[in-house]
Amino acid sequence: MIITPEYIKTLKPYVPGKSIEEIQKEFGLEEIHKIASNENPLGPSPKAIEAMKKVHGEVNRYPDPGALELRKKISAKSGVEVSNIAVGSGSEGIMANILRCFLCDGDEMITSEATFIGFQVLARGRANKCHYVPMPRDTYKFDADGILAKVNERTKIIYICNPNNPTGTILNKGEFDKFYKGVPENVLIIMDEAYFEYACGCAEYPDSMDYRYDNVITLRTFSKIYGIAGARIGYGFAHADIVSTIMKVKLPFEPNSLAQAGAIGALDDDEFLEKSRALNAGGYEYFRKELNDLHKEGKIVFVPSYANFVLLKLESEEKVNFINSSLLKEGVIIRPLKPFGLADCIRVTMGLRKENEAFIKSFKKYI
Ligand SMILES: Cc1ncc(COP(=O)(O)O)c(C=O)c1O
Repeated sequence: MIITPEYIKTLKPYVPGKSIEEIQKEFGLEEIHKIASNENPLGPSPKAIEAMKKVHGEVNRYPDPGALELRKKISAKSGVEVSNIAVGSGSEGIMANILRCFLCDGDEMITSEATFIGFQVLARGRANKCHYVPMPRDTYKFDADGILAKVNERTKIIYICNPNNPTGTILNKGEFDKFYKGVPENVLIIMDEAYFEYACGCAEYPDSMDYRYDNVITLRTFSKIYGIAGARIGYGFAHADIVSTIMKVKLPFEPNSLAQAGAIGALDDDEFLEKSRALNAGGYEYFRKELNDLHKEGKIVFVPSYANFVLLKLESEEKVNFINSSLLKEGVIIRPLKPFGLADCIRVTMGLRKENEAFIKSFKKYI
């Protein structure tokens, strides 16, 4: 008999939000508003699509395993050397490789509770211990001091998600500076900046590119603002030794050729980037205004967000379930956050105007 390790047996797989097709079928609805997965509601970057179309006739060939053209493009855009740029099948793919490369038996990890579930799934898929530091419920922010207090001689990796999914909150510049100074040099900090492009206009947001420390790896993605989540491609900035180690263990031909081409196209699409940012900012303001009264009345807590989604705390888990099922019947898909450890909260992605309006209408009706 093949023995499965206990930590794999007890692993709960990542459960994504409900799909449009599932809800259409279940409730016999035509129009569905999926504002559950922090995807770009405008669709993919047109330049990414154009670039993918150009190479699709060559998919009989293997891609460049070093993704050199893409890394050069990222280098030209960011001013970072190619040797400091890693790529992978999504930023989650890179994260998986980081854990694979650097965790030895007995090493430990630290992060916050109520953070990106993808990291939690990866961490639970390892035999290594991971500490989840409680998240203060008055701020819904990472408790940086609490994380530092957990550091011990076995700590190898600290995972920070900035802005944090699902709370939308950030560690600001001052908080990150103070935190970083308390982390020993032999501990690798993963700075997950999947929502960087939404937050980077804010003065208080610490662009981790300004902190090119040897023990920090910054992860970014083409899945969010660039709109090519299905292509699975992300990148990271780190010390050249860390990058070469990660590139050594990745699957030889990840990211795939369509993804590499799409990412190169997306990086040229400033117009799409601006349009996406503007749509998001408008959607956020609309949510903030529309939900202000409910917030003031204490019926919900609206947590200010730096990303393309907002966290809403409701009265209870029962209320979340009721709201979720009521909205689904009206074709509005949002994300209940029990799997993230926030059973009394939902996460709503800023969508197209009509999607946002559909959410607000249904939410106000049922809350
Ligand atoms: C914080 C965070 N990191 C990473 C990812 C996954 O990114 P990718 O699609 O590049 O693997 C997500 C997706 O939801 C996310 O929210």
